[in-house]
Amino acid sequence: MRVLLSAGPTREAIDPVRYISNRSSGRMGYALAEAAIALGHEVDLVSGPVSLPAPEGLHAFEQVVSAAEMSEAMKRLAPAADLIVMCAAVADYRPANVASSKIKKGADSISLELVKTEDILASLGSLKKPGQTLVGFAAETDDLLQNATVKMMKKNLDWIAANDVSRSDRGFDSGSNAVTLLSRDGRRLDLPLQSKREIANAILSAVLA
Ligand code: PMT
Repeated sequence: MRVLLSAGPTREAIDPVRYISNRSSGRMGYALAEAAIALGHEVDLVSGPVSLPAPEGLHAFEQVVSAAEMSEAMKRLAPAADLIVMCAAVADYRPANVASSKIKKGADSISLELVKTEDILASLGSLKKPGQTLVGFAAETDDLLQNATVKMMKKNLDWIAANDVSRSDRGFDSGSNAVTLLSRDGRRLDLPLQSKREIANAILSAVLA
């Protein structure tokens, strides 16, 4: 099968040296890529800026920085994919204007106007082909399953991995994770705290079953 994955954060530029981003290390998405390669699938990985080596055996590896670049790469590769898993922590907002020179320190307070980025997963959901499986993650600090279910329905997903990111032993920038996998047709799989590679194996075996 052809598997398309996204991983890592995006960076949204404020000026030539500053950006808005988040704590995604890329580990969960890279673990999914390694697990899918080990299962013999043809894997395309679109990665935001992380400090991990590219998994060996990828079919395509695209390194991007911003949400707009990630969107372009995902939408270009999506038509060939049987399974798409969007694990990247895409910035929801970007600065409305990017300063062309470094912003000088001056006033005691300054404001930054932010505008929404494209919801890449929702776009992929609206472009989904028959037979294609689309999986998202939901990074939540409150009302985990309720918020994840709303995201799955709104974005036209087949599955969503509800990820509690309020604790330091799981989620962002940790070697381990715990998720509840929910399907559109009402299935639920609780995956307790374990390595990200084990979580990746369990997610792939459920969604490819
Ligand atoms: O990278 P690690 O350090 O290993 O951490 C892993 C992780 C915590 C980042 C990962 O497990 C995870 O939860 N990824 C999803 C992060 C996220 O952005 O969640 P969200 O609930 O804000 O977004 C919901 C879904 O929509 C996600 O699949 C996201 O990729 C997607 N999205 C969000 C915003 C946007 N503009 N476009 C999107 O496609």
